[in-house]
Amino acid sequence: MMTNPDRPTILVLGSTGQTGRLVVEELDRYPGAVQIRLCSRRREEVERLQSQGREAVFLDLDDPRTFGSALAGVDRIYLLTGYTVAMLVQSKTLVDAASKAGVQHIVHQGIFGQWDCTDPHFAWHQLIERYIEASGIAWTHLHPNYFMENLLSVTPLKASSFSMYCGDKRIGWIALQDVAATAATILLKGPEKYGGKDYWMSTESFNGAEVAAILSEVLNQEISCFLKQPEDLWALLTSGESKVEPNYAEGAVEFMRQVMDGRMGYVGSVRDDVPLVTGRTSTTLRQWATQNRERLRNAATG
Ligand SMILES: NC(=O)c1ccc[n+]([C@@H]2O[C@H](COP(=O)([O-])OP(=O)(O)OC[C@H]3O[C@@H](n4cnc5c(N)ncnc54)[C@H](OP(=O)(O)O)[C@@H]3O)[C@@H](O)[C@H]2O)c1
Repeated sequence: MMTNPDRPTILVLGSTGQTGRLVVEELDRYPGAVQIRLCSRRREEVERLQSQGREAVFLDLDDPRTFGSALAGVDRIYLLTGYTVAMLVQSKTLVDAASKAGVQHIVHQGIFGQWDCTDPHFAWHQLIERYIEASGIAWTHLHPNYFMENLLSVTPLKASSFSMYCGDKRIGWIALQDVAATAATILLKGPEKYGGKDYWMSTESFNGAEVAAILSEVLNQEISCFLKQPEDLWALLTSGESKVEPNYAEGAVEFMRQVMDGRMGYVGSVRDDVPLVTGRTSTTLRQWATQNRERLRNAATG
């Protein structure tokens, strides 16, 4: 496939998900600067995107046979995997194929972990980072802390309340629009400017009660937070209602345990590299809640 060296081709993994979708939106702000290639493991989704005039390819991270045509001509990749231990094999095989396809830069969406952390799903992301580095492809690692969007997805606001599973411990929060804006800038400018760098994203630190107070003010209604324990999360994730893959569920519970007992107390810290890349201040939880007021109100009444 012929490519234009002045207009690098960027493949965005997870472009149908909550972060990847925003990365694409951010890249769309610079028409002509880069060629954006979307992908999905669902053929109907690929067709839907193509019918909208997008460049979209079929790519199933669980099937490396789909990597060849998806990667041909790609210069830079946003590597995002889902909530599953399969991320290890998915990333290993994708990085191998990227190397053979001549990809020059991988920007990886990882986690807010210290290098020697022992929580399983944090460790998987770190293994992936080391593997990318060993591949010889230029890399940039993003380290977002707890997504504000979790209030609408993973542990959602419902019936005027939500739950945190680390008691009253604090966690650092980041808005996905900031992750996406940082990722897009790095992908646009490329490895000469951003290769070999780590970026930490934790804008503000709050416990559940403090988050509930902000939401109550912004929504102008009483929102409460149930300060639950890691074992409550385990019960939820193994209840049969949850779609979370069992290995990831164990990692999520272990994360909460380590936040509670202090081993991962550092996730309650602020570390805000977003402005260094985007040139703008990061989104506060209050700003994010204001921007998402209607969605939060609908969720709260659900
Ligand atoms: N939640 C947090 O607070 C948090 C914090 C830090 C880091 N993270 C990390 O963020 C990542 C998840 O990001 P997200 O929340 O944006 O994910 P998400 O909304 O669940 O989206 C996952 C994306 O990956 C795609 N995908 C899944 N399996 C695939 C496969 N086999 N082949 C091709 N595409 C596949 C999905 O496509 P489909 O539409 O086909 O499903 C979807 O587009 C995880 O690695 C997690 O560890 C999360």
